[in-house]
Formats: sequence, structure tokens, C-alpha cells
Amino acid sequence: MKIAIVGTGYVGLVSGTCFAETGLDVTCVDVDAQKIEKLNNGQTPIYEPGLDQMIERNMAKGRLRFTTSLADAIADCEAVFIAVGTPPDEDGSADLRYVLAVASDIGKYMKNYLVVITKSTVPIGTSLKVKKAVQDSLDARGVSVKFDVASNPEFLKEGNAIEDFLKPDRIIVGVESQDAEKIMRKLYKPFLLNNHPILFMDIASAEMTKYAANAMLATKISFMNDIANLCEIVGADITWVRKGIGSDPRIGSKFIYAGAGYGGSCFPKDVKALIKTGEEKKWPLEILKAVEEVNERQKESLVKKIMKHFNNNVSGKTFGIWGLSFKPQTDDMREAPSLIIIENLLKNGANVKVYDPVAMEEAYKYLGEKVVYSKDQYDALIGADALVLVTEWNEFRLPNFEMVAKLMNNKLIFDGRNIYEPSEMAEMGYTYYSIGRKPVFN
Ligand SMILES: NC(=O)c1ccc[n+]([C@@H]2O[C@H](COP(=O)([O-])OP(=O)(O)OC[C@H]3O[C@@H](n4cnc5c(N)ncnc54)[C@H](O)[C@@H]3O)[C@@H](O)[C@H]2O)c1
Repeated sequence: MKIAIVGTGYVGLVSGTCFAETGLDVTCVDVDAQKIEKLNNGQTPIYEPGLDQMIERNMAKGRLRFTTSLADAIADCEAVFIAVGTPPDEDGSADLRYVLAVASDIGKYMKNYLVVITKSTVPIGTSLKVKKAVQDSLDARGVSVKFDVASNPEFLKEGNAIEDFLKPDRIIVGVESQDAEKIMRKLYKPFLLNNHPILFMDIASAEMTKYAANAMLATKISFMNDIANLCEIVGADITWVRKGIGSDPRIGSKFIYAGAGYGGSCFPKDVKALIKTGEEKKWPLEILKAVEEVNERQKESLVKKIMKHFNNNVSGKTFGIWGLSFKPQTDDMREAPSLIIIENLLKNGANVKVYDPVAMEEAYKYLGEKVVYSKDQYDALIGADALVLVTEWNEFRLPNFEMVAKLMNNKLIFDGRNIYEPSEMAEMGYTYYSIGRKPVFN
């Protein structure tokens, strides 16, 4: 079976490669010629564990190709996935310009029956717009070619994307015709054989499922951050509270960690887009508005602690930042809390030295020459007045604290992810601030 995937970003590239891994014949398309050239030269444009080898293996088997030509890619295909970006528009709604441009191009070039599947995260009703865009192009050509639309939102997590795609918790498919359902079943047959649940539903419900899932996850994070801040005020410890509530299976222990706020390419924009849909439909989503507000406040919380510690004057001070990507195991810097923290420190006259295991190149696109890029985590601490931990990469979990103390001017740590034990910090003589726990003063 031959398929095409349009957009070779975090979702398109992983999906295309994983589909090839299951034996399908996959062509990935992108308008970014540099990206396609890189891929054709054996380079992977993003960091995702295990992806390089899988791309290489499937290219070698002739099941995975990369091109800038949509016309070539969809020739003889049974299905084409749209996996391009849906960034937030100025008013917070999802910008559908890329999705609809692809749909319109598909209509320009398609010659045989196709299922046009939207994998990008899109507002409810978008598949109908996709259908219209394809049909308009076919009408402009004066030809009649049968096609169907489907919605197949993606739930992979950056950093664990291959595992998530190949062993999904569920596959959501929205269809409106039996032909489309038949093709989607064929496409996902290897997953069905392995008993991964596949849920067929109407298209609007599939589109809504994706937004509701991300909105629920963002809600869990903001709820815990809100409680964590109250813990600090009343002298409670969020770690104990988290363990205490997480042991109730109705609540569950996953995804209830307090921290420096959610970021990344999905939660912030998807929460905004769903709020916007609610407004448009005159059903204001009050909970989500609060989720967003709490998150905006949370992204500033570490900076507030830093400013308070330094009596509102960090001018000339040097901060070593550990972790830049919005979460571990990815180089994605979109809406990363580190950017807000760093910009705030710079604005107040501080010097910033940064280190991230994989996101340094990506960070340069955002921060340019404004910060010092360190060669490793310890290098970032030479002459620093404080360490600020923003992303909980594994290699930061058990550092050599003696060396850390020797390199820095002060034994001072601001931990935005609660990865160190306050009691151990106290024993080692550090002043230690974290989220939702009593600070340690030395
Ligand atoms: N990143 C994630 O973790 C994740 C998870 C689930 C869903 N999603 C959703 O999937 C979609 C894609 O996200 P992403 O993170 O992969 O985006 P991305 O920005 O990494 O990649 C998008 C790609 O689409 C390409 N593109 C844009 N217009 C094109 C066109 N007309 N033809 C061909 N290619 C084109 C871009 O050049 C880019 O390579 C978004 O809607 C996102 O919300 C993302």
C-alpha cells in the first residue's frame, strides 16, 4: 500500500517513518527544500531518540522516500496525510493556512481515489474545509475524481515519539464513508493485529478528542502548579501532596508534577485554540481560561524567586541554566519556559550561560548572541552566582555537587523541576529553592 505524508516535522517525519517500518510504501513531502535535501543525504533535521536509525533502515529498504514534489508523492497513493503545522493565529485560533494550502494542492494534482487524512491538530469542522479546498481545486481543473476526508489526530509525545506511534494507547479515526474506513483499517492493520485499540467515530468527535486530551493534560499541570504555590504559602510540600493524591486511582499518579509551567509546540496553542472555539460558539470554557492564566503566572514563578533572593537586583550577576528544550529528550524550543526565564534575567541586566544536551543549536535561533553557550553542564557554572535548572534531563539528576560548589560563586540552586531533595541540599550546605516546597537556606 502506497501513502504520502505532507509535512516532515516532528509528527510527519515520525509517522511516515513508522508507517514505513510496518511495511507501507511511504513518500514524505515538505516545502522546505533544505530539510528534504538533508533527509536525502542521511541527516535527520530533528532530535528524536531512535529516529535516525529507523529512517536509514527504511530508506535502504526502499520503503521511505523524501521529496518536495506533492504531485509525485501522491501519484498512485491510496491515502495522503496532512501533517503540517497549525500555529496559533494572532487571536489564538489555529492558523489553518498551511493545512488548507496542502488540501488545495492535493486537489490540483490528484488523479485517482484518495483518502485525505488530517493528522495536524485542527479545530472542529476543519475536515469539511479540507474537503471544500480539495473539491474547489478539482472543480478548477474541471475534472471529477472521487475522494474522502478523514481525521486521524496524533497523540505521540516528543522524546518518546517512536514508541508512542508504534505502541499507541489508542488510535482515533474520524470518517464519514465506508470506503475511507476500509482504507484506514488497512493502513492500521499491523496495529490492530497487536491489539492496540482503534476507535472509529465521526469526524467532529475525532477532532474534538485531540483538543480535549491536550486540554485535560494542561489542566492537570496547572492544577498541580496552583496547589504547589499554595503549599509554599501554608508550609506544605507538593511532593507529599502529589504522592498522597496520586495513590487514588481515580486521580492517578501520572502527569501531576508541579514545575515551571507547560510549554512546547502543542499545549499552549491547543489550549488557546480550544478557548477560541468556545468563544466562537458562545460557550466560554472557563476552566481552560484559568488553566492558561495559571500557566502564564507559573512560567514567571522561578524568576520571581530569583529576583526576591537577590533583592530585585541581578544586574551583573551570572546565571548558569541547565536545560533549554521545553522538556527532556527533544530539541524543541517552541514556547519553552527557559526562554521566558532567560529573557527576564537578561532584561534585568544579568549574564546568562546555558547548557542543554541537544537543544543548543535550536536555542541559538531564539537567543542568538545574547547568552553564552557552554560546552557542558559544568562549564555553564564557572563563575555563576546561581544554577537555574529548567529542564529535567537525566544527566542533571545526579550531578557532582562538590564540583558544582567549587565552580560557582555561591552554593545557590533554583530548581524548576523539583529534581533534588531539599534535605540533601541542606546537608551539603546549599541554598535551594524549588516549586511547592519550603526553601532551604544556608
Ligand atoms: N509536535 C508534537 O509533539 C505534536 C504531537 C501531536 C500533534 N501535533 C500536531 O501536528 C501538527 C504538526 O506538528 P509538528 O510539530 O510536526 O510541526 P513542525 O513545525 O515540526 O512541522 C511542520 C512541517 O510542515 C512543513 N510544511 C508547511 N507547509 C507545507 C506545505 N504546504 N507542504 C509541505 N510541507 C509543509 C514545514 O516545512 C514543516 O517541516 C500540528 O498541528 C501539531 O499541533 C504535534
